[in-house]
Amino acid sequence: MCGIVGYIGPRKAQDVLLKGLSRLEYRGYDSAGIAAISSHAVEMVKRKGKLKVLYEELETHPIKGNVGIGHTRWATHGVPSDANAHPHLDCKARLAVVHNGIIENYSELKDGLIKEGHKFRSETDTEVISHLIEKFYHGNLEAAVHKAARLLKGTYAIAVIHKDEPDKVVGARLDSPLIVGVGKGENFLASDATAVLDYTKNVIYLDNNQVITITRNKVTVKEMSGRTVRKPVTRLKWDVSQAEKGGYSHFMLKEIFEQGDILAKILDERIKGQKIVFEQLKIRGVALKKFKRAAIVACGTAYHAGLAGKYMIEELVKMPCWTDTSSEFRYRDPIVDKDTLVIIVSQSGETADSLAALREAKKKGATVVSICNVLGSSIARESDGVIYTHAGPEIAVASTKAYTAQLAIFYLFTLYLAALRKTIPNSRYAYLLKELKKVPALAQQLLSEYKSEYNSLAAYAQEFKRYYIKQHNKSYFLYLGRNINYPNALEGALKLKEIAYISAEGYPAGEMKHGPIALIDENPWVVCIATQSATYDKMLSNIQEIKARNGIIIAVATEGDKELIHQNINYIIEIPKIDELFSPLLVAIPLQLLAYYVSKEFGHDIDQPRNLAKSVTVE
Ligand code: M6R
Repeated sequence: MCGIVGYIGPRKAQDVLLKGLSRLEYRGYDSAGIAAISSHAVEMVKRKGKLKVLYEELETHPIKGNVGIGHTRWATHGVPSDANAHPHLDCKARLAVVHNGIIENYSELKDGLIKEGHKFRSETDTEVISHLIEKFYHGNLEAAVHKAARLLKGTYAIAVIHKDEPDKVVGARLDSPLIVGVGKGENFLASDATAVLDYTKNVIYLDNNQVITITRNKVTVKEMSGRTVRKPVTRLKWDVSQAEKGGYSHFMLKEIFEQGDILAKILDERIKGQKIVFEQLKIRGVALKKFKRAAIVACGTAYHAGLAGKYMIEELVKMPCWTDTSSEFRYRDPIVDKDTLVIIVSQSGETADSLAALREAKKKGATVVSICNVLGSSIARESDGVIYTHAGPEIAVASTKAYTAQLAIFYLFTLYLAALRKTIPNSRYAYLLKELKKVPALAQQLLSEYKSEYNSLAAYAQEFKRYYIKQHNKSYFLYLGRNINYPNALEGALKLKEIAYISAEGYPAGEMKHGPIALIDENPWVVCIATQSATYDKMLSNIQEIKARNGIIIAVATEGDKELIHQNINYIIEIPKIDELFSPLLVAIPLQLLAYYVSKEFGHDIDQPRNLAKSVTVE
């Protein structure tokens, strides 16, 4: 939610800030702005709308200066408008602030500041920060930020510039991410590392309650007490090309097509001969043997990966396990204790509800392992152990490669636990490992079928749009799956909802008769995950029940399935043969592509769907 960036160095701040914001736009895109110090004054341009509106404005009215801050917004307080866009100035336009997060006590602070004579120009919570810093400024920006930060309740990552101190950018963080990009003769602040990758791979991850000052040649981090802290510099392995579209029309498509390689890399990193290794896990084998239960906690797509994880853990580790959404987990009184292994799954590692769930679990004495993609993220740092998915930056708001990477990590981790706890025979372990190793090549083979833009899924999407119009926009999707592919039914529906804005529901197929079957007439398109499995026959019965009520069926089938051909199915998507346990990794791919093509047919903004942001850092 919102992306912030700051720069000081020899380059034109406007260029660096715009480049950084373009990398952060996935975090929010309803308005954007930049401010820089030029000729001892703060110059600012901010506009409602996507970043390209700001680009156009700056083309005609460029901002000079080599020190500046920028922001891309996902509105929380105040509608998207020029006035509510960041940066926000103080009364006399001496300083400018950008902010990611929510200031919960803003209205109380605002009342006080208004009484003291401060003039507000926006409806945002952020503007109180500008006026507070103004109030405390007596020639030392860092000291003023310290004082202001102590009064703020809620979450924030901020970056501030002041015209009287044109040689620095000051930042601070509490529960919203902030990193420093360390360059040569230049330094950067940003919500995440993708914003600085064009310039440096050396980053510092800030912790809560730290205030940071960057000058051209120096980075100073202080605790709220004023004590200076030394922070390690991490060298990133990410490449800037990973944050670019690389010839694909959308990031989502690029990320879908990366999945074969990512799966290969994940397995390669963790499988050594017949052994699975988690060398950096920090939680010892003896401890992992003792847990009596596991709880998996996550949001959105990561939650769906976690649901599949539950099936894996119960089947292979024979340990009771449940999966919960973070927002539910954190506000009830979940039964977790020192015997519980809590697994938090999060691509960004910054999701507010998941972070709060993690803290709740730790408070109750549980051991927390997180599965994260973003290196050094808050969730990764606060967990007892972290397993990185190493899927590279995921830019499209709709998560795809992070999902299959999370699934792959779950397979490896559960097999690892199963071997450790001796819950499956060696022969089964060896067989499963062999099957799992086949997946990356099969995923690659599957993806190659969809390389051309005129592929069967694109054609189904076209058919759907025609049908939708014929049915007076009443058509919609149902996704049915069973067992370990039930989470894929939820995930397929989520993908379609979020990028195609078509109503879609995911259901365990066995629940059809308990209600949803009432929806079936000629309107819904029902995606039935009917791959070879122990419940295959049951799914065939579901298909017949839907057909009998005129529903249109897209079946996801195992290649070479002759039986399905006799079921009078409208459309078939084939996936390569693989053990049922691992089929979710392959089934997920065409479901992602189907949502992509439906969205494309309807002409929506695939990478930046309305109302969403990639990383939900507010409640
Ligand atoms: O970064 P996280 O994995 O914690 O994010 C969780 C959800 O916000 C995320 O998966 C969201 O549902 C995606 N937009 C789904 O495509």
